[in-house]
Amino acid sequence: MMTDIETSASLHQYGFMKNLSPQQHKRNVFFATFFAAQVSGLLMVVLIIVWAINGNNASGTHVGGIGPFLSFYYHPVLMTIGMVFLTGQGAMLFRVLTRVDRNILKIPHLLLMSTVTILTALGTYAIFVAQADVTPMRDLHDWVGLLTIILFGVQFIFGFLAKFYPGASPPLAQWYRPVHNFMGALVFVLACASALTGLALDGEKDFSTNGSISKAAGLFTICFAICVVVLVVNRDFARTSWTTSKSEERSPLLTNAVLTSSNRGYTAIE
Ligand code: HEM
Repeated sequence: MMTDIETSASLHQYGFMKNLSPQQHKRNVFFATFFAAQVSGLLMVVLIIVWAINGNNASGTHVGGIGPFLSFYYHPVLMTIGMVFLTGQGAMLFRVLTRVDRNILKIPHLLLMSTVTILTALGTYAIFVAQADVTPMRDLHDWVGLLTIILFGVQFIFGFLAKFYPGASPPLAQWYRPVHNFMGALVFVLACASALTGLALDGEKDFSTNGSISKAAGLFTICFAICVVVLVVNRDFARTSWTTSKSEERSPLLTNAVLTSSNRGYTAIE
């Protein structure tokens, strides 16, 4: 068995670590994961759209709807772009733009989540309209999806009240921040579970072109979910002394910084 020192020495010898400091190593892992998130997220969105267009062309108007949402396929497209892709982007925002003050980042975060709210409302309306002639809420997917939508709504309302208007008192805001972050990650994971159960329900169960596209879309959804969760829950990628803007270092937002047991300095509880 190689010791840690021997392993590290052989990695240096083969040029894998190139004498990177732990900080540089962290940054590299961070950016590689972020890049993978963007690639898999974009592929997921593109594949869902291609799958929807192919499916729609093959099946005509796909029954029973009224108004503009005649096709069932609006639902998966709107939900995937909103609940999965944009929620994931909103969650990663604070991890990526670490030089931008957290108070400023609240604005694009709110805009992203407002867009998700609109797309979710349209996507949910679309499925109820398109499936008006079948029994509602008859599948597990329907219930997972409904739970996700309700939790997203609760998270949006509390986030708005605490962080925008009227704003929570400092002790309450400090207590609420990790709750908001945990709930955000939970809603995102549930959204991915909803999308996957939806694809399992209605994706073609064969190896036709569209069947393969729907399965690939599902696999890229899983890749996107893993990358986002790694970036969001990993303490190493939290806004710390090595990433935080100067003005934030002085702001009371970092009063919940804790000393970690290692010599990395403090890590803010995000
Ligand atoms: C975050 C993503 C999603 C959420 C929150 C969500 C939510 C919902 C909800 C609440 C319903 C119930 C509507 C009703 O009973 O009439 C539903 C139905 C449905 N969804 Fe989704 N959905 C999502 C993504 C998807 C995706 C990606 C697909 C892909 C095919 C899909 C396919 C379906 C189908 C086929 C139904 C009708 C099921 C039935 O006939 O009972 N959904 N969805």
